[in-house]
Amino acid sequence: MNPPERGTELTVRISVLGTGYLGATHAACLAACGHQVVGIDTNPAHVKRLATGRAPFQEPGLDRLLAQGLRAGNLSFSTDYDAAAAAEVHFVCVGTPQAEASEAADLSALWAALESLAPLLVGPSLVVGKSTVPVGTAARARHLIRRIAPGGDSVELAWNPEFLREGHAIEDSLRPDRLVFGVESNEADLTLREVYAPVIAAGVATVRTDLATAELAKAAANVMLAARVSLANLFAEVCEAADADVGDLTMILGYDARIGSAFLTPGIGYGGGCLPKDTRAFLARAQELGAGEPAKILREIDAINLRQRARTVDLAVSVLGGSAAGANVTALGAAFKAGSDDVRDSPALDIASRLHSLGARVRVSDPAALRNARRAKPELLYDDDAISACSGADLVMVLTDWADFQSIDPVALLDVVAAPRAIDGRLCLDPDKWRAAGWELHALGRRSAAGPG
Ligand SMILES: NC(=O)c1ccc[n+]([C@@H]2O[C@H](COP(=O)([O-])OP(=O)(O)OC[C@H]3O[C@@H](n4cnc5c(N)ncnc54)[C@H](O)[C@@H]3O)[C@@H](O)[C@H]2O)c1
Repeated sequence: MNPPERGTELTVRISVLGTGYLGATHAACLAACGHQVVGIDTNPAHVKRLATGRAPFQEPGLDRLLAQGLRAGNLSFSTDYDAAAAAEVHFVCVGTPQAEASEAADLSALWAALESLAPLLVGPSLVVGKSTVPVGTAARARHLIRRIAPGGDSVELAWNPEFLREGHAIEDSLRPDRLVFGVESNEADLTLREVYAPVIAAGVATVRTDLATAELAKAAANVMLAARVSLANLFAEVCEAADADVGDLTMILGYDARIGSAFLTPGIGYGGGCLPKDTRAFLARAQELGAGEPAKILREIDAINLRQRARTVDLAVSVLGGSAAGANVTALGAAFKAGSDDVRDSPALDIASRLHSLGARVRVSDPAALRNARRAKPELLYDDDAISACSGADLVMVLTDWADFQSIDPVALLDVVAAPRAIDGRLCLDPDKWRAAGWELHALGRRSAAGPG
């Protein structure tokens, strides 16, 4: 997507703290909007790569925007927090993963970033949280910054949650569905409007609210999305028991204008660096706030999601005749979703790994995520080419809904596999086409699928 047209907007000096999937995209997009942007990250390898105009992960269009900003001289990257000192607005984009010992969010990177930044804030400035955090974090962050910053109360805090989707990050940043400004003053609201002036001028809606509601906006959005996927997967299991077809069922539901079809695809479930941990963090925070009782539904949403992985492994074992030991299994897909190279909490890679643990020889192919997958699961076999990855396979499993896999010719694939057996873990293949080609095609919740047991 092209950057928005620049009008007579002001150039704002901005720092972006944390330049991962969110921060690198945000920095590049703000530079494309004409601002002077420095990205700060504690990972030197990351910074080195970004400084040459290459993102450390795959995101369509990002390398082009990075190169453009670097060339124009209004985008730079550094590991040194001092480089952020001249900025008027500081966006905090560090990771907030699940804590190792609990379901809550690990906010250590957030506190570390704020502690590094705060001593540099000698005069009026705006610190803007973008990371996804449990409600109440912003108020603590405000307290911490004002305690440490030489500028004291002249430093303001705002929360501006980010809703971008990996694989669509640039268009989602430059043309989001809405911009949420959690602010405590008109000045903070105005500053954010200056920063986002070209985006707002393009017609994007803005919602001004308080800090807590802004924090919740992102967490609640992810809970809603997770709930829809898990409902679709609940329907899949009931369909199997009732001899109904979940593909038809979710299509019928999707036509209902009140329901819609997005995030209603059953399959191996959701994953990635956001939905699983954000759902758990929401539950953990609700419990802390005394709202744990109604939030118990989130435990079920998570359990249904994880259950799909186990059920897919059971289905594979059943299709293989009761044992995976010694079988050649091809997993088409490692990324947690198509369009990304992200394998964080990827259901595809988890299923591949579980089958490996059961004694299968698992070969994985993915158009973008093999480098990350190799690092995360070195015990699996990898092949850049999807067709050769299927060579000699007793079972082919489509686990990420890449267009490359959906367009595989099932007739031609017959020539390379040992047995024409496939599992469609994403309900993304054309069942008639595959079956007409002679394939035994299985999917959780599909009428003619042979379920486990
Ligand atoms: N990935 C997405 O699609 C997405 C979308 C919306 C919101 N979010 C949220 O954005 C946040 C970041 O997610 P991400 O996917 O970009 O994570 P990420 O792991 O890709 O990036 C985090 C970056 O922060 C850096 N970092 C850690 N500690 C730091 C510090 N003290 N100072 C500076 N940099 C530091 C890391 O080196 C890393 O590069 C999370 O809260 C996530 O939930 C992510």
